[in-house]
Amino acid sequence: MSLSAADAAKRAAAVLALESVSDGMKLGIGSGSTASWLVRLLAEKVSETGIKVTCVPTSEATAALAREVGLALSTLDEAGPLDLAIDGTDEFDPRLGLIKGGGGAHFREKIVAKAAKRFVVIADETKRVSRLGAFPLPVEVAAFGSLATRAAIARVLEDLDLGRAAITRRERDGEPVLTDEGNHVLDLALGSIPDAAELARRLDGVTGVIEHGLFIDMADCVALGRADGTAEILRRIDAAPDPREIDLMRDEDA
Ligand code: A5P
Repeated sequence: MSLSAADAAKRAAAVLALESVSDGMKLGIGSGSTASWLVRLLAEKVSETGIKVTCVPTSEATAALAREVGLALSTLDEAGPLDLAIDGTDEFDPRLGLIKGGGGAHFREKIVAKAAKRFVVIADETKRVSRLGAFPLPVEVAAFGSLATRAAIARVLEDLDLGRAAITRRERDGEPVLTDEGNHVLDLALGSIPDAAELARRLDGVTGVIEHGLFIDMADCVALGRADGTAEILRRIDAAPDPREIDLMRDEDA
């Protein structure tokens, strides 16, 4: 099977992240095209090695794929705390801050990542940025009163000197796209976010915002895949080595 460069890189990232999956683990499995590679390769690993893992999917789409490839699924409530969550991203910066939610699944993704002892991001070079914000920031909002919520978000952006950002309701065929939770998504075209942590805090405080796609101080590492099939682990530039990541370390770290 010959893969496109993009798929080869996504596959390589997923292969590297899977090295940290072992027997008996409870896993959060992410959403999107990179995470789809993870789900398929995880199913192969399970059938080839006989390990047993319990998977908590972050979206209905991932649940459907996981069922199709025969993975054992559970809900987060049934599974309890997770050993590891692995998910894709739309952007990551040098401190491993993320923008997620291109597929509108960031609410469940954030709950699952926060329920996990470790959160590993799988990505390729197209997701690496020096500063977050070129990818429009997804914000899931309640359908009820969505215009009032949108106005409150606009005020936050004004306050933070991001007031020129276009706020667009995500639509398909003229109708709002609904998330798995039945909510709407606003995409904030910010261009560049000087202080993502502050924006995250301010959006957390807006009534009607269900969840935004800024994942700050959450990722333990990024498994970065390349089109040539190689991959490496990136850690936060300001982070001390984390002993929990030891099983992800490559030869040069040994
Ligand atoms: C889903 O809502 C997102 O958070 C995805 O994780 C993100 O969009 C990455 O998707 P791709 O792997 O398809 O780029």
